[in-house]
Amino acid sequence: MDSNLLTPLASQAYQRAHNQAKTAPDAFWLDEAGRITWIRKPTAGVKRDADGGDRWFSDGQLNTSWLALDAQVEAGRGEQVALIYDSPVTDRIQRFTYAELTEQVARTAGALAELGVTKGDRVVLYMPMVPEAVIGMLACARLGAIHSVVFGGFAARELAIRIDDAKPRVVLSASCGIEVDRVIPYKPLLDSALEQATHQPEATLILQRQQVEAVLQAGRDHDWHERVAAAQPVDPVPVQATDPLYILYTSGTTGKPKGVVRDNGGHAVAMHYSMDVVYGMKPGEVFWAASDVGWVVGHSYIVYAPLIYGCTTVLYEGKPVRTPDAGAFWRVIEAHKVNALFTAPTAFRAIRKEDPEGAMLARYDISSLKRLFLAGERLDPPTYQWLKDLTGLPVLDHWWQTETGWAIACNPVGLETMAEKPGSATAPTPGFQVDILDLNGQVCGSSVEGAVCIRRPLPPGCLAGIWNDPDRFHQSYFASYDGHYLTGDGGYIDDDGYLFIMGRTDDVINVAGHRLSTGEMEEIVASHPQVAECAVFGVDDQLKGQLPLGLVVLKDGCSQAPDDIVRELVGMVREQVGAVACFRRAVIVKRLPKTRSGKILRRVLRQIANGEAYAVPSTIDDPIILEEIGERLATA
Ligand code: COA
Ligand code: AMP
Repeated sequence: MDSNLLTPLASQAYQRAHNQAKTAPDAFWLDEAGRITWIRKPTAGVKRDADGGDRWFSDGQLNTSWLALDAQVEAGRGEQVALIYDSPVTDRIQRFTYAELTEQVARTAGALAELGVTKGDRVVLYMPMVPEAVIGMLACARLGAIHSVVFGGFAARELAIRIDDAKPRVVLSASCGIEVDRVIPYKPLLDSALEQATHQPEATLILQRQQVEAVLQAGRDHDWHERVAAAQPVDPVPVQATDPLYILYTSGTTGKPKGVVRDNGGHAVAMHYSMDVVYGMKPGEVFWAASDVGWVVGHSYIVYAPLIYGCTTVLYEGKPVRTPDAGAFWRVIEAHKVNALFTAPTAFRAIRKEDPEGAMLARYDISSLKRLFLAGERLDPPTYQWLKDLTGLPVLDHWWQTETGWAIACNPVGLETMAEKPGSATAPTPGFQVDILDLNGQVCGSSVEGAVCIRRPLPPGCLAGIWNDPDRFHQSYFASYDGHYLTGDGGYIDDDGYLFIMGRTDDVINVAGHRLSTGEMEEIVASHPQVAECAVFGVDDQLKGQLPLGLVVLKDGCSQAPDDIVRELVGMVREQVGAVACFRRAVIVKRLPKTRSGKILRRVLRQIANGEAYAVPSTIDDPIILEEIGERLATA
């Protein structure tokens, strides 16, 4: 720990902001709301709505696309670069000024309007990392339509599930994505999703990329370039602060993903505040979130926050390694004079694996870079230390989730930089009141691990609900502890006020910074005709943080070769969830350990698979099973 810097408990600037947001949340956030431009400025702070959500600024009116684009042009940023598209996989770099991006977004909104999209309609995007993905999102926002971006690594079935839930009027997609040197045709995946889905959109808009030409179905599919070129630009449509901006589906504990709804007003205020306090940015600087627009990091920090704040954002279509090498990130930083980089720890673990001594870094000038931000999964101390030693820069872990949309805990460098403590995401961001609760709902003592919860009201920007499912919204987040939001993470706060997040306490796992549901994989594995029962859980992995592992019990009398069954199971998960699930290991066992009431003992299974010491639970029906499984995993 750097002894020149203060701890959270000793930092006065931080404590002041934290206390103001805690004791007078309305005044604190209405003051922050005053820093963005509204069509009608809000006077209302937070209110509980009929579904039990904390809703901010209900009488405010704005348009997020206008705020991110037109307002920046009006403020004199028209010639400033808004978006840099850097694509090593197509060998292209393209820059859009704020004026150019505004024009493109207005025209694309015009094309959507001509396809019938109006305020409140849903539009699903299934897009690779190309500027049109960003433009499409902002075009929806311009019309007051609700976008729902589906990550390109998900399979057709996942896309179909989201289409059936969101019921889009239009789907935006592209002919292909590019994974390093592999071209992945997207249109056949979209076609397959539409065959599987019950709901059918009225139209699709398809971006034809050079690498593959998609076959368009007359009457339904339209060529993106042609439609946009012929469209008239449209003006932004005013929306209420509480109107939805987007739905982003995320993995829950069951096979059905949760459609996290984010509204316009609270989101805009939170994005603006976070660029200052969490990331210490100044308007005009260059921000790079090396993520994907399909994840919340991409929504918040590739698209909305940097533009709302007047920064330049980088859209990178490549990987940390192999496009072409482990120097890729350093190259991008030098090429675009990036001031802050935000990525997932797994990206740096991949770089470190290929370039442990940092020889690649020596080839580039990264002097523009002020800070490195890491999130999406736990920043393990060895990766933290490696980055710190290599760059000499602040390496700042911060913790958040799709539901919150921005950091629940961070080192608030815009207020005061605090001493870094490896393994800790530092302190609750002002606005978030974090409590560690035990099973009885009592606050745990210092350094005692428990359920990490957020006391209500949640600050602006957090989820407004689960699309179409108010009961699930309540059950998932508010039913466990009175007056608190349940994050699903376990962790503790130490004597100095540092928050440590230790991992999920539910069936959600994090694979290479991608959030996935083991419950969903389990449902797929269990659907194999020869499988009697199974358990899928996450085991530690040096590169990707966690990987799913399936333990499978076959039906009596099964005559199919076990290796064939395993191959089929791996294929089924890849086919139904997508390659991104990384489900590559299934092991056939005789029995699964259960409590006497029949619950599978997943925690112990995880400990065995990770080679950790474990205590035999007193509730287990037959302890011998644990030894059998240990031996099986050691030999399989
Ligand atoms: N479209 C189609 N396929 C995709 C995809 C996309 N957008 N993203 C990933 N995939 C595929 C990959 O090609 C791979 O396929 P394969 O099994 O045929 O090889 C599979 O999904 C698994 O992908 P991934 O877990 O990303 O592994 P990888 O070996 O390709 O790359 C890393 C490993 C660490 C380099 C990469 O995961 C990474 O950059 N991670 C950072 C994660 C991140 O930014 N997370 C966002 C939260 S901040
Ligand atoms: P997602 O919704 O995809 O952003 O994933 C959210 C989950 O990722 C959280 O609930 C955590 O389990 C994990 N996570 C994100 N950031 C961190 C972090 N900095 N430290 C530990 N876990 C994290």
